Amino acid sequence: MSNQEKQRILTGITTSGTPHIGNYVGAIRPAIEASRNSDNLSFYFLADFHALIKCQDPDLVEQSTREIAATWLALGLDPEQVVFYRQSDIPEIAELCWMLNCVCAKGLMNRAHAYKAAVDANQAGGEDPDFGITMGLFSYPVLMAADILMFNANKVPVGKDQIQHVEMARDMAQRFNHLFASNKKPLLSLPEYQVDDDVAVLQGLDGRKMSKSYGNTIPLFLGEKQLREHINKIKTNLLEPGEPKDPDTATVFQIWQAFANAEQQAQMRQAFADGIAWGEAKKQLFELINAELAEPRERYNELLAKPAYIEEVLQAGAEKARQYSAPLLAQLRNSVGIRKLG
Ligand code: TRP
Repeated sequence: MSNQEKQRILTGITTSGTPHIGNYVGAIRPAIEASRNSDNLSFYFLADFHALIKCQDPDLVEQSTREIAATWLALGLDPEQVVFYRQSDIPEIAELCWMLNCVCAKGLMNRAHAYKAAVDANQAGGEDPDFGITMGLFSYPVLMAADILMFNANKVPVGKDQIQHVEMARDMAQRFNHLFASNKKPLLSLPEYQVDDDVAVLQGLDGRKMSKSYGNTIPLFLGEKQLREHINKIKTNLLEPGEPKDPDTATVFQIWQAFANAEQQAQMRQAFADGIAWGEAKKQLFELINAELAEPRERYNELLAKPAYIEEVLQAGAEKARQYSAPLLAQLRNSVGIRKLG
């Protein structure tokens, strides 16, 4: 199958923060698996323009970009097989973003969850509704639409919180086509979101959803000693060794399930029924996670020591990406009337 015929899967990773095992299980691992399916052409990119919305510490933006690129490569993403690039290396995205800004209704953005949540928080605190809200935050879904539409993506794997943004991208594509495309040939494809209900949403150390904002994460590439320490901090209850324990309410078991095969899951279930000590369950959990992550961790550390190599991979990815974005943008410019005069 030629690349032109393949189903296009596209997703972005905001480069703020360090990936944790919840990101790994919920997003990175399934995305890398999907990229191995040769019916798909995957576009995976580092959303560093999106990072600027949340993070105004330049060194952190750089560090996170390096770490996230190294993470995906260390976990086996094959840059030969997918299009792996950094958003800011594709000037066409920023340009399309402006064109979309000029067709996107402001009222649509007023309804975006992230913006509404910020307004609600301000009002609850007696502040001006738009206190501390930048245009970047407000128009964030337009940039995300540009990311998606620039590559005529068909499927966009996202978490539930991002569904609305993909729907907004569809709206913008429709509006753009309505205004500028001839009836028979739409300029922009309408994307669909893809939410995978099978992948686990991991619990964090305190039993709530694992999330940077709760400070309850297990970073993905901790050294062995620190990984063990983090696992030891997972919240349990006061049941003694020998007392049967309920796997389905235990964070230790929930994380176990995300790394274990069917047989290992059944074994641990039985061990809980037999009253395994919390300390022993955690020791086994450490061993299971460590077995999966030890090799990638080594590759990750090697990659981090070679930022010039990572940069080279990203530059090659940008070149590949621009083979798609440059011709489409030329067509879009022409269709809106930005044309050579003679
Ligand atoms: N906004 C997404 C997030 O925070 C990241 C992202 C940016 C994205 N551009 C995208 C995801 C385009 C999918 C498609 O998770």
